[in-house]
Amino acid sequence: MTYQINVNLGERGYPVYMGEGLLGKLPEMLEHHGLGRRFVVITNRTVARLYGAGLVEALKTADRDVEMIAIPDGEAYKSLTVAGKLYESLSRRRVERNTPILALGGGVIGDLAGFVAATYQRGLPFVQVPTTLLAQVDSSIGGKVAVNTGRLKNMAGTFYQPVMVVSDTAALGSLPPKEIKNGLAEVIKCAVIEDTELFAFLEESTPVLLDKDPGALTYAVHRAAEVKARVVEKDERDQGLRHILNFGHTYGHAIECVSDFRIPHGTAVALGMAMAARLANRLELLNGADMERILRLITAAGLPVSIPVTRPAAVIAAMQHDKKVTEGRMKFILPTGIGSVVTRADIDPQIVAEVLSA
Ligand code: NAD
Ligand code: GLY
Repeated sequence: MTYQINVNLGERGYPVYMGEGLLGKLPEMLEHHGLGRRFVVITNRTVARLYGAGLVEALKTADRDVEMIAIPDGEAYKSLTVAGKLYESLSRRRVERNTPILALGGGVIGDLAGFVAATYQRGLPFVQVPTTLLAQVDSSIGGKVAVNTGRLKNMAGTFYQPVMVVSDTAALGSLPPKEIKNGLAEVIKCAVIEDTELFAFLEESTPVLLDKDPGALTYAVHRAAEVKARVVEKDERDQGLRHILNFGHTYGHAIECVSDFRIPHGTAVALGMAMAARLANRLELLNGADMERILRLITAAGLPVSIPVTRPAAVIAAMQHDKKVTEGRMKFILPTGIGSVVTRADIDPQIVAEVLSA
């Protein structure tokens, strides 16, 4: 089953295709979108070994001229230094302004290749081919592209929408369990903020999702991508509503920072969503039954809902330095039920501290 949703952004709008086996259909999809005969695939060495050769072969068989650049695997390579090397590599290959860049990989590759596509010669056509659950439901949609500078995440970046997103959900079959859980945290996020049906599906289906059942994964990717697309099209430049996609991320980012990034992103987001649910309950915005449903679902996905906070002051300080802080006030996305959230920037830090230590 192939799903298609459209991100309706006028002349910057694009389709997102999701289904099993779409990598093999990529040549015809590129043709359908009038995307030329020459392509550069940017990927990492892990994904190149798994899917790069197959993709290059499929494009060559369809009589396309294709080159693949594979960088080492890891967040550390989402950097200005690597972007600089990619510019040089594109220049050596005499890549011209109409040559599309295909980002084949997880969020690291999508963000980096997108940043390069946005800036090389002031912009090349860009196609997202996400291969992690997180990238298929979140980072490939919405046009945020960036590199890290030193220890500062996504500090240099822009908005650059792709021409299309092609998510082959069969590729999720090779993901390690840790990466499935990372992605599931973002799927749960989408369900809590906007989609009660997806939430109920997850309550039933978490075990099969953890087992990487292709049909269940494709359905979850489709529903979560739909949530993301609808939010992005209402607030492309992240001026207000799009902040709801940061549900679980205020506390999550703080936990990541304080742990020196030893706590994985999905785990941190899970802790952040649990904390936000408890805070919402403490503020009488969320009833106890819905709070319990959220905590149970996070737990069922193999993610934690609490950790000992040895340095609550450091966590609060990290939250106060988050990008989402305006005029020094922490901004929280708080659930008011399953499928609805509010944004609050008026929460007393003392109450936050109490919830953290409880
Ligand atoms: P990642 O890109 O590092 O991928 C995780 C691991 O999975 C890597 O080791 C990768 O090589 C491997 N991998 C990828 N596809 C695979 C497959 N099919 N089978 C086996 N292994 C595979 O991490 P991620 O979680 O996909 O993305 C995280 C990045 O995304 C961060 O840099 C984050 O800042 C960014 N992000 C961006 C946005 C956005 O809106 N642009 C949103 C969320 C996150
Ligand atoms: N991942 C948050 C956003 O795209 O806005």
